[in-house]
Amino acid sequence: MGKVIIFQASPRKKGTTAALLAEVAAGAQSAGAEVVEYNLNDPGLRGCQSCMSCRREDAVACVQKDYLNPMYADLKDASGVVLGTPIYMSTITAQAWILVDRLFPAMGPDFAPRFPGKKFGTVITQGAPDPVAYSANLAGVLGFLSSLGWENAGNVTWAGAEGEPSDNLKTQAFELGKSLA
Ligand SMILES: Cc1cc2nc3c(=O)[nH]c(=O)nc-3n(C[C@H](O)[C@H](O)[C@H](O)COP(=O)(O)O)c2cc1C
Repeated sequence: MGKVIIFQASPRKKGTTAALLAEVAAGAQSAGAEVVEYNLNDPGLRGCQSCMSCRREDAVACVQKDYLNPMYADLKDASGVVLGTPIYMSTITAQAWILVDRLFPAMGPDFAPRFPGKKFGTVITQGAPDPVAYSANLAGVLGFLSSLGWENAGNVTWAGAEGEPSDNLKTQAFELGKSLA
């Protein structure tokens, strides 16, 4: 059975990102996967403190013993990872950037991936109506996730996000979840 890790980077627990991530979770579960969710808006989370402990050859996790720490054990046996974030100021939220920072332990001292061979996807929600408006900014984040040895399985974008997602978007998110299982 696969394990899919969902990272929710919106501060709104019942917002548009959460609505699509629920579909991702349902899709993953329909394919038999266990779903683990991390709410990146946890108030105790900090970004990388540059202690360099994770640069040691034998390091497998960040030394910060906080809410996010169990994710390193989850990453060991996860089949898929999804990052769900609204667009804030033309890019991912500060909550999502904390995750990016905290994935430094996912690469070794030589920058080789420590948890390779996973699939990843993104769920992006934004007020702007043009679905490719932020592609250039998001490309860097997608490139970073690929650099961890992860294959991009799909990116679901809800442009002009408001109210309930369309059936088409829900299906896209559900199928993404299935593909990550
Ligand atoms: C601080 C802030 C900054 C935002 N910046 C942008 C932006 O640059 N471009 C855009 O299209 N939408 C922007 N939005 C709108 C959100 O991306 C949009 O409302 C999103 O669907 C919210 O997701 P949520 O319901 O999961 O919280 C911004 C919203 C906030 C609160």
